[in-house]
Amino acid sequence: MVTTTKVKSNNDAIQRAESVEEAFKRMRSRLADVVPEFELHYKAELAFKINQLKRQKNAIILAHNYMEPALYHSVSDYTGDSLELARISANTDADIIVFCGVKFMAETAKILNPSKTALLPSEKAGCSLAASITGEDVRRLKKKYPGVPVVSYVNTYADVKAETDICCTSSNAGAVIKHLMEQGHHRVMFLPDEYLAKNVAAETGIDIIFPSLPKGGTENDPENFERVLIGWHGRCEVHEQFKVEDIRNVRKQFPDTVVLAHPECSPEVIEEADFSGSTKKMIDYVRNVDAPRYLLLTECSMGDNIIAENPEKDMLRLCSVRCPHMNLITLEDTLSALENLQYEIEVPKDIAQKAGKSLDRMLQIT
Ligand code: 13P
Ligand code: SF4
Repeated sequence: MVTTTKVKSNNDAIQRAESVEEAFKRMRSRLADVVPEFELHYKAELAFKINQLKRQKNAIILAHNYMEPALYHSVSDYTGDSLELARISANTDADIIVFCGVKFMAETAKILNPSKTALLPSEKAGCSLAASITGEDVRRLKKKYPGVPVVSYVNTYADVKAETDICCTSSNAGAVIKHLMEQGHHRVMFLPDEYLAKNVAAETGIDIIFPSLPKGGTENDPENFERVLIGWHGRCEVHEQFKVEDIRNVRKQFPDTVVLAHPECSPEVIEEADFSGSTKKMIDYVRNVDAPRYLLLTECSMGDNIIAENPEKDMLRLCSVRCPHMNLITLEDTLSALENLQYEIEVPKDIAQKAGKSLDRMLQIT
């Protein structure tokens, strides 16, 4: 059984537009500050076709918060962070889920709702974290640390989730670890994001060790610690780019900037920032907390998406930091996904069943 939360539906006036012209006008009024008008003409045509096809095929579009602004604001039925979108995909009664995000997200949707067709508009939309570990790696770790429960970040592929006891997302990682520790598991593997693991360790006051140091060195024995996380050296290729210097440079020019950093950033960056949370938590913060200006240390499309909705807010940008995988998901490919029912996500049944348990446990405890 999974639980569900009600998340704002974006199925608004743009999606109900009765002509391309109407879709264009509505998109312009939302997106004029973030998408050039010549681009909007073309994108309104694509959005109009996508919204028609979605209705004809009883499909929904789930869009991660990192989607480009025109797609995010014109065709998504639901937007959210990994946790919200997982919950929605588990509970939808649409026949087709088009996942505008990356492969591990579409795979999660398929595992949670196996009777549905799950489509990912680009076959190549991967993730450096998901690519950093395999099911075989986890099996080796389990041999090395017998009986130690495995928590895996949702940014992993199904073979890793199948070897996992409980999944977590950036939104609930601390809660999952606290839950296990309260149940008496004082040694827990936390895979594969090195920085998220270190940040959760700092948040919960738990020690952290790594099983094999990349350049050799002495390994720590988990038995030497009262409470310890055993990490892995995966990194997000986007969030590892942010440096403490970025924050200091911005604060020199704008001392009243509120800095929000995603927990995939390094512990030094998180320490220097004012707030850290999942993409949804960052969006909620900007919506609900008034500040002279904000700096978001995360994928740069999200800043545009927030500004389109909150034009009165002042957002500073470090514009070059775009996730190359999220960037592959375009309106063009989303249209092709619906027209040709591509690229369908399949997960072998035995793996899906085991992976589903680790996801269900996460959804139950948080
Ligand atoms: P969220 O769950 O916070 O949306 O993060 C997903 C992700 O891939 C961040 O890089
Ligand atoms: Fe993966 Fe990082 Fe891209 Fe998120 S931003 S999908 S963690 S590579």
